[in-house]
Amino acid sequence: MKDVKGLTWLYGMKLHLSMNWPTSLSAAGGSVLVLVAIVSVLFLNVWWFLDSPPHQPNVIFLGAGEGADGTAMHAKVDPIFPVPVDPSEEDAPVVPVEANQTSPSVKLLNDVPVEPIPDVRAVPAEVNRTSQVTRESPLSPQPLSETCDLSEGEWIPDPSPPLYTNETCPYIQLSQNCLKNGRPDRDYLQWRWKPFGCELPPFIAARFLKLMRGKKMVFIGDSLARNHMQALLCALTQVEDPVNLFSDPKDKQYKWFFSSYNFTLTNLWSPFLVNYTVEGDIYNLYLDVPEKIWVSELAQYDVAVISTGYWYYRKSLYHTNSKIVGASPNSGLNATRVEILSTMRSVLSNVLMHLTTVYRGVTIFRTITVDHFEHGSWSNGGLCNRTSPFSHRHGDDSLPPFPWMNSEISKVQKQEVDKAMTSMSDSSRLKMINVTYSSYLRPDGHPGPYRIQQLNEPANDCLHWCMPGPIDMWNQLVYHTLQGIFG
Ligand SMILES: *[C@@H]1O[C@H](CO)[C@@H](O)[C@H](O)[C@H]1NC(C)=O
Ligand SMILES: *[C@@H]1O[C@H](CO)[C@@H](O)[C@H](O)[C@H]1NC(C)=O
Ligand SMILES: *[C@@H]1O[C@H](CO)[C@@H](O)[C@H](O)[C@H]1NC(C)=O
Ligand SMILES: *[C@@H]1O[C@H](CO)[C@@H](O)[C@H](O)[C@H]1NC(C)=O
Ligand SMILES: *[C@@H]1O[C@H](CO)[C@@H](O)[C@H](O)[C@H]1NC(C)=O
Ligand SMILES: *[C@@H]1O[C@H](CO)[C@@H](O)[C@H](O)[C@H]1NC(C)=O
Ligand SMILES: *[C@@H]1O[C@H](CO)[C@@H](O)[C@H](O)[C@H]1NC(C)=O
Ligand SMILES: *[C@@H]1O[C@H](CO)[C@@H](O)[C@H](O)[C@H]1NC(C)=O
Repeated sequence: MKDVKGLTWLYGMKLHLSMNWPTSLSAAGGSVLVLVAIVSVLFLNVWWFLDSPPHQPNVIFLGAGEGADGTAMHAKVDPIFPVPVDPSEEDAPVVPVEANQTSPSVKLLNDVPVEPIPDVRAVPAEVNRTSQVTRESPLSPQPLSETCDLSEGEWIPDPSPPLYTNETCPYIQLSQNCLKNGRPDRDYLQWRWKPFGCELPPFIAARFLKLMRGKKMVFIGDSLARNHMQALLCALTQVEDPVNLFSDPKDKQYKWFFSSYNFTLTNLWSPFLVNYTVEGDIYNLYLDVPEKIWVSELAQYDVAVISTGYWYYRKSLYHTNSKIVGASPNSGLNATRVEILSTMRSVLSNVLMHLTTVYRGVTIFRTITVDHFEHGSWSNGGLCNRTSPFSHRHGDDSLPPFPWMNSEISKVQKQEVDKAMTSMSDSSRLKMINVTYSSYLRPDGHPGPYRIQQLNEPANDCLHWCMPGPIDMWNQLVYHTLQGIFG
């Protein structure tokens, strides 16, 4: 029996915890739990995203003051259809309490240079706005070119109806079915993403299905990956109602088949992308083992859309080559402290290695999203009650800052994808869709209170995305990407 002891630095507080490994994590007894509980309580008051309520942001209010159809909906739940319990209880991410937003001095194992808090909002300043606006009226859309950066842009008003609603798509996860759950405002449905350098073509379901005829596509990741897959499913359902080949009772795996197009759409739950086991509240992550659940099925798919992010904030013990190599800073375990960025870097390196060497299909890597808890944290009354996007406008200091941690994770993701691309003889099989900045601009796109709340879950979900909502844009990016490959 090896004695592994705990050392945790949190906000200048050093905690020594000792426990036995590998007998059982639960054998550590109540003392660890109590200490962890104390630490958790301490953190309830600290939020990495916003320390204090922001000023009212200088958003553009170009949209109509009312919802698309002027209707106001007040019913919280449909009295006719009692709301069943959402079985996806594991959706709730653990808030990244240990990330000190104001301190970029995170120590990385892989000596990644840590830069000061980036002002992502400053990015658009470099664009010559005057010339952009005149050149790109919606009447004369510019064709997409290789050089157009789709990640930079702004949300502009769009009067067209959403691709689907709760009436036309029966496959919306209840927790993200904001319309059905009574969200009263509708302005959040009336925006489209406008990259600065070009127009992003709209998502046309029939064209997508034609492009994907005879193909199979899989989404791999956490509940945000499922959120994305369901947005695609709903959009495609407008053309053909798919056959459900498989749904697991916990809403984690799905397989749908569009018979007239011989197109298969699958969702596989793999929140860390690598193998893991759970012991108590500690996740054992095997950083070098791409998770079997998707690795074993991958060969049959033409396209894999992968993503990961928020689950890395959970308390974890890390293994490489079957040996313990460290633990997450919030784990309370006596093991080498390994920062999230470093962990994610090794995981992505290993997962992308597998995807670029073993897998023959196309990989689309979706970057991390941004959540929008304000006036508190996930666990401390945080909410997201804005009803319009942030303006991209430069120099507006009243906007909540771009979260430092998401920015750093996004950088690690880019570096690892770039690294993987350079190692490939045909790098056209690996693509990245970058939704980090566009999602940051959409504080209005989350379910907030218009969700199905689980026992012990906070009242507001400011992490997942309403369907329909800004998440539908991600499929424009997917379509554009795939058209470049199969079109
Ligand atoms: C942590 O583990 C190391 C190595 O096993 C050990 O030397 C140290 O005493 C432990 N610390 C505590 C507080 O148990
Ligand atoms: C965050 O880190 C900075 C610099 O290390 C430190 O001054 C500040 O007190 C920390 N904030 C919190 C809430 O611990
Ligand atoms: C912006 O574009 C206009 C028209 O193309 C040009 O005259 C002007 O010099 C540009 N300004 C900058 C700062 O590039
Ligand atoms: C869709 O949502 C509206 C409220 O916006 C509700 O009245 C209606 O019953 C819902 N329909 C379905 C099929 O869920
Ligand atoms: C349907 O697509 C699969 C590949 O996904 C292919 O093997 C099969 O032959 C196709 N069936 C028809 C009838 O085209
Ligand atoms: C982890 O991966 C290995 C090798 O792929 C596999 O044999 C094992 O069953 C996996 N374990 C878990 C818990 O997924
Ligand atoms: C959002 O909630 C905060 C805190 O309850 C409140 O101060 C603010 O007025 C609300 N904003 C809107 C637009 O409802
Ligand atoms: C995503 O796009 C934003 C805005 O262009 C950029 O700041 C960020 O670095 C990009 N992230 C990745 C992973 O490419």
